[in-house]
Amino acid sequence: MNYILTNSYEAMSKKAASLICAQILMKPACVLGLATGSTPIGAYKQLAALFKAGELSFKGVSTVNLDEYCGLQETHPQSYRTYMNDNLFNHIDIKKHNTYVPDGMASDYAQECAKYDKTIHELGGIDLQLLGIGNNGHIGFNEPGEEFVMDTHRVLLSEDTISANSRFFENEISNVPTAALTMGLRGIMHARKVVLLACGKAKFEIIDRALYGPVTPKLPASILQLHPDLTVICAKEC
Ligand code: PGA
Repeated sequence: MNYILTNSYEAMSKKAASLICAQILMKPACVLGLATGSTPIGAYKQLAALFKAGELSFKGVSTVNLDEYCGLQETHPQSYRTYMNDNLFNHIDIKKHNTYVPDGMASDYAQECAKYDKTIHELGGIDLQLLGIGNNGHIGFNEPGEEFVMDTHRVLLSEDTISANSRFFENEISNVPTAALTMGLRGIMHARKVVLLACGKAKFEIIDRALYGPVTPKLPASILQLHPDLTVICAKEC
């Protein structure tokens, strides 16, 4: 594991963007696994800036996102498709048809999940997976539970997650969707490289437990201890 501690959110974001940039330069037709939430926004800004400066092209890149809320249209302001368009895709030259986010409006969730895993497989797997971490140790929406769930699946969001994400829904818990589709742990663990971001003291305890405590489905991020190419970038301040 590579562990990088930075002093600021900006430094963490720059470091993450530079790893993603290196991945694209090394393999222009690479597959990026992307995350949502507050943490990666700065890295996406840096990537958009690199594109604007003419230093990077996403023309050959494909992306697969970790998750999507069930029941939100992709045009909903809080859907992760909207998040990706607003924070990254609309600012770079990626071909939108090469960007994949699970369909939270699918009529048959099991079929949508199987299709998502097939897509990842047909793309040749993920070259670099970017991750944040939830306060409860989730990655994607793989919530704490009794077993590691390997396939893409529908998950009921934990109270912790609903409460943490209510800040995006006018601080109203009842507005937060209660379920989501999430990439499973196989997709994440089979990524050739994983970059985990965490910022602020509030995340330090969970990062410490995930990286140095027992590997357990009660703390899904702990499975990353078994990943052969994990880079963790933390920022002291958010
Ligand atoms: P955050 O969320 O980046 O908004 O803290 C991370 C996560 O829940 O995975």
